[in-house]
Parts: sequence; C-alpha cells; structure tokens
Amino acid sequence: MINRRVFVARFAGLTAVGVAGHRLWAELAPPTIGPKPIAIFKSSTCTCCTKWVDHIRAAGFTPVVRDEEEMDKLKDKLGVPDGVRSCHTAQIEGYLIEGHVPASDIRRLLAERPRIAGLAVPDMPPLTPGMAPAGVEPRDFEVVAFQLDGSTRSFARH
Ligand code: CU
Ligand code: CU
Repeated sequence: MINRRVFVARFAGLTAVGVAGHRLWAELAPPTIGPKPIAIFKSSTCTCCTKWVDHIRAAGFTPVVRDEEEMDKLKDKLGVPDGVRSCHTAQIEGYLIEGHVPASDIRRLLAERPRIAGLAVPDMPPLTPGMAPAGVEPRDFEVVAFQLDGSTRSFARH
C-alpha cells in the first residue's frame, strides 16, 4: 500500500509539471536502478535490523521504516510462515522479505518475478548483510524462496 501510494504521488507530480518535472524525476530516479520503496518493519531495539536497513539503502533502495514492537503478531498478519522467520520483515512490490536477505537477491527477485510469497534468510546467520562485522564479505548462508504454506526452495547460496 505504501509503495503504491508513493508511486502514484510521484507520477501525479510528474505529469503535472511537465519537462521540469521530468528533469527532477531523472534526478530522483537514476535509470540504472529506479526508485524502489521498501517497507521495513522492525523492533526499535534491533541493531542488526538497522544495519540491514543501511545495507538496503546503500544498494539504492528507499527504505520506509516502521518500528513495531509486536513483530510476531505482525508476521502472523502478513503470513510469514513460522519456519522462515527472522528479526525484521519487509515488503516490496507485493513480495515479503524476511530477515537478512542481500539487496542483490531482492533486485534479482524483482527482475525475475517468480510466483512466490517472498524471500527469507531464516534465523540470523552470522555472516549475512547487517550481521557480518564491518569489512567482512557476507557468506555461508542460504536465501530461500517461500510460499505462504511454509514450503521453501533454495533461491541463492552465498
Ligand atoms: Cu537481525
Ligand atoms: Cu532484523
């Protein structure tokens, strides 16, 4: 919902102001990546979540972050299966993103658009983006594609 509203608002602005607006649009949305608002829900005390938000922003996405103290209730509501749960939960273009999923996998997801509910890195492996110490290349974990019924398949290995 947030995503759609942001897009509609920006598009409406663009058509209203014409050429000058088009220049502004080009500045706001580099053609190589494009604006990708991503809604992120996390607990206010979660430091690895904040680091993951930084990772996502650095990769060219636009995080819209909301602190949420009852994450399990939220995951229930969004339909994140028990077996893939982690700390934060995000939504982008109709997909759920659970846990420390690398931005590069989210980009691939949006390019390929498979019929899945979302991507997850279950639990919190220590060498994922947002968990790995500064300067350490993320590795030794798997990203799974999941369905709302809890079934999973491998999406990427790092
Ligand atoms: Cu975490
Ligand atoms: Cu988190």
